Amino acid sequence: MRKIFLSIFSFVLAIHALAQTASVAHKVDSVIRLMTLEEKIGQLNQYSGDWAHTGPITPDGDKQNQIRRGQVGSMLNVIGVEHTRDLQQMAMQSRLKIPLLFAQDVIHGFRTTFPIPLAQACSWDMDLIERSERIAATEASASGIHWCFAPMVDIARDARWGRVMEGAGEDPYLGARIATARVKGFQGKGIGHTDAVMSCVKHFAAYGAAIGGRDYNSVDMSLQTLWQYYLPPFKAAVDAGVSSVMNAFNSLNGIPATGNAYLVKDVLKDTWKFRGIVVSDWGSVGGIATHGYAADDKEAALAAIEAGCDIDMESRCYKNNLASLVKEKKLSLQLIDNAVKAVLTKKFELGLFEDPYKFCDEKRENAQQNVAAHKATALQLAERSIVLLKNDLNILPVSKNVKTIAVIGPFVKAVKDNLGFWSMEWPDDSATIVTQWEGIRNKFSSDVNMLYAKGCNINDTDSSGFAEAIAVSSKADIVIMSIGEARDMSGEAKSRSNPVIPGVQEALVKNILATGKPVVVMINAGRPLLFGSIADKAHAILYTWWLGSQAGNAIAAVLTGDYNPSGKITMSFPRNAGQMPIYYNHLNTGHPAPNDSTLDYVSGYIDLPHSPRFPFGYGLSYTSFAYSDIKLSKTTVRPGEKLEVSVVVTNSGNYDGEETVQLYIRDMVASVVRPVKELKGFQKIFLKRGESGEVKFRITIEDLKFYNNQLQYVAEPGDFKLFIGTNSEEVKEASFKLVL
Ligand code: BGC
Repeated sequence: MRKIFLSIFSFVLAIHALAQTASVAHKVDSVIRLMTLEEKIGQLNQYSGDWAHTGPITPDGDKQNQIRRGQVGSMLNVIGVEHTRDLQQMAMQSRLKIPLLFAQDVIHGFRTTFPIPLAQACSWDMDLIERSERIAATEASASGIHWCFAPMVDIARDARWGRVMEGAGEDPYLGARIATARVKGFQGKGIGHTDAVMSCVKHFAAYGAAIGGRDYNSVDMSLQTLWQYYLPPFKAAVDAGVSSVMNAFNSLNGIPATGNAYLVKDVLKDTWKFRGIVVSDWGSVGGIATHGYAADDKEAALAAIEAGCDIDMESRCYKNNLASLVKEKKLSLQLIDNAVKAVLTKKFELGLFEDPYKFCDEKRENAQQNVAAHKATALQLAERSIVLLKNDLNILPVSKNVKTIAVIGPFVKAVKDNLGFWSMEWPDDSATIVTQWEGIRNKFSSDVNMLYAKGCNINDTDSSGFAEAIAVSSKADIVIMSIGEARDMSGEAKSRSNPVIPGVQEALVKNILATGKPVVVMINAGRPLLFGSIADKAHAILYTWWLGSQAGNAIAAVLTGDYNPSGKITMSFPRNAGQMPIYYNHLNTGHPAPNDSTLDYVSGYIDLPHSPRFPFGYGLSYTSFAYSDIKLSKTTVRPGEKLEVSVVVTNSGNYDGEETVQLYIRDMVASVVRPVKELKGFQKIFLKRGESGEVKFRITIEDLKFYNNQLQYVAEPGDFKLFIGTNSEEVKEASFKLVL
């Protein structure tokens, strides 16, 4: 250590006048000069601890000795100051005392569990999403974590894929905005602050387009589609200063993403000038050989490092092969040095060389365990994530004066299922999660008679509880049902060929509807599920996703109208499995269907309406919003000019409420076929009942650009349509022309 410090110190003295970044670069070089090849490779080797794991763990008895020998650069799944300090102390026994980095999947909260990311996206609330990541970063960094493997920004059009729950849905514009908010939230005032963590945007790239929605499956797409739809959220994260990027498991057009030099070297590092760390996904370096793109682990390691993957997570291909590749002159030392530079730079920026225990403060850790302000934000975000899909006869909100309420279903008293996949496990979970029963019970006065029956389990064939549920419902003025997917039914490796409501829950709903009582159905899930008969027959439907630790309070607030729902779905909800993938921003065909009932020679299905069950951007409120016609400042736009667009929105119903006003455009004729609609802006506006507000947008030529078939990002002259409305289908329309 003394040796490094002397050398660093002399450098620091020599270059004290240089900018901070330059000084970090010099410090990094000074360390690299002291390193053996084995120590360099150690920095590129990442292991999992034993907290949890998301892939096969390679038996590896002497991990700790490897840390002491400087053969490990970073760890994941080691949580808590006590454990990170232990391992950091081992790293401090290594020759050069290079500190370890500790990484963790912090997908929707750390101590405080927020709604799953797909639910959060339905809030369209960038400030709140950013704040949730700020909280996650504050809590995680207090527990010794330096690096969060989030946000996941994979565009997803197919609800069969279980990982749709981790992303923002199907739209690249919204996805990019959310990516920016999340990176800013994690990294706060910048890494180096003790409450900031490195963010890691993943999975690069196009993982969400797995064929058939089957996790890890191959992806085959044109480069135009890749650039137009799948890359924008990654680019936004890079522009927001994201510290790291994770490779994807899939192959893209025949080349595994982890060994894909086009993606990582050409696009990410050369074109976008990304200078942070590229980390493989779990075992995905070794996966290059499994794909059949490399003969063995050694070739896989070569492909990955040449493509630009800096850190090998858990496959050990780098550890076992890079040295011999260098000795055999198959791999240049420069490539290894580049990767090591990326890793050491972040360790310096985090301040770990100055103080390896900077994130090891038990007092701070304890103070972050049960923070009331964090719970309040979790509640706000959970309320705003709920989507009201249906409200026939305005049976919602439930009057606080009803006499008897029946609350039925396997989610009513469930605890951990409220958290969803990719949530942390804590010993005090049961105490900190507000169940739906508790939330609802607390919201109504004790004069309200609250009845409960479970009715059935989430996912089996046992209907023996139906009779009790029917009897209980028959005594009530209104029935609230809570059904859905268990927390491990959406997530990694959780693809479903037919994502219907599992078990006998849909049959339970049918039986309860047969009582003739007004029935509200709440659906808890990690993805858009298929629930045709419920969608048709239930009187009201709330899509409650997996809402996190404040689920019960958020649901109760929405049921009673204390919070008027404002969520809007960010994936199109299909009618049945055969409709997937389904997305609103599709291209026009030569045989478009003018409406759902057109059958002859149109691009649709003869056994199904062409439209989704609920379109992108859809979500109701207890109030209604009326839109004026669109006002344009001009009908011809030239480069350098701005088109001002506005509508007046009026709260025409009986409750105060918030609306998300959405703006879409369509390029009518272009050198490649353009989508029928593309989101280009949105704004949230809160209006008291009877109140009106003007919502203004600005369109510039940048909003009209797209990737042509030479992959140039261009705007072409001609006619455009512009739409503003409450969702992607219910819109007002106007036209303008771009003149170049
Ligand atoms: C997932 C990643 C995750 C990693 C580490 C993988 O299986 O695909 O998203 O960050 O495991 O847990």
